[in-house]
Amino acid sequence: MTYPTARKVIIDTDPGQDDAVAILLALASPEEIDLLGITCVAGNVPLSRTEANARIICEVAGRNDVKVFAGRAAPLSRALVTAEQVHGKTGLDGPELFEPAILLQPQNGVDFIIDTLRTEAPGTVTLCPLGPLSNIAAAFQAAPDIIERVQEIVLMGGAYFEVGNITPAAEFNIYVDPEAADIVLKSGIKITMMPLDVTHKALTTRPRIEALRALNNRAGPFTAEMLDFFERFDMAKYGSDGGPLHDPCVIAYLIQPELFAGRHINVEVETRSELTLGMTVADWWGVTDRAANALFMADIDADGFFTLITQRLARL
Ligand code: BDR
Ligand code: CA
Repeated sequence: MTYPTARKVIIDTDPGQDDAVAILLALASPEEIDLLGITCVAGNVPLSRTEANARIICEVAGRNDVKVFAGRAAPLSRALVTAEQVHGKTGLDGPELFEPAILLQPQNGVDFIIDTLRTEAPGTVTLCPLGPLSNIAAAFQAAPDIIERVQEIVLMGGAYFEVGNITPAAEFNIYVDPEAADIVLKSGIKITMMPLDVTHKALTTRPRIEALRALNNRAGPFTAEMLDFFERFDMAKYGSDGGPLHDPCVIAYLIQPELFAGRHINVEVETRSELTLGMTVADWWGVTDRAANALFMADIDADGFFTLITQRLARL
């Protein structure tokens, strides 16, 4: 059933445990989100795994009807960098995985993005990138006419005060394909960014994971097992009480925007420097006259965020 209040959304993703939770949250929220399709991209792990993982996670939600597409297997002009050190060899390490029954759609994910934006009414489709921006930028390059038809982009990527997680200067999603990020940030589309400055405040503490494990369905314990694995790396790295749950911030924003606070500022991506490649240079203090191009989030009501996830996943 589609609700009149729901906005049409394409999730572009590289699952990834945190991407998986974002997908579950979207599937559990039909009042706000009409999920037109999931386009997969290479990122945390190679494309063959991210597309399989997306299909697995739809099946865990009992949603074998969701359309899953494979997009680009590599960034626009660079070799792929992956993050198995964080996500494990499968990208979804933790729970027991299975061969999904859902079939991959035959159409390429980039073509699906283009066709959807050309078919749906202008200004009615929101793009939610949760991985490197290769698919989105490739679609804009191949079909520039779709750019003005996008309603909004809400993405996970970047960092400013929190600086980098894959290099001292750069956040992973932007670092993997900085040229793609540059194209998206210069597109003129309304953009909301969830950088590490936000996601490092959304920690998977023990009580939060246990509340998910206690859900009386398949998705709750599956999510808890994913997060048990996922948090180890970042807890060891940062000495924090849990791992940052990055990508669900994007979906939570579509459902409950008041959980987040930020500033509408200029954000540019470094594409040349070897030392700071992929850094998001955010003019938080307004010290340049560069035009604002993104709502750059900095704060989150973390308890409200985890309550939302737990309540929504309980519906699956
Ligand atoms: C981002 O990189 C990936 O490891 C996560 O899925 C998230 O999208 C955080 O830097
Ligand atoms: Ca991701």
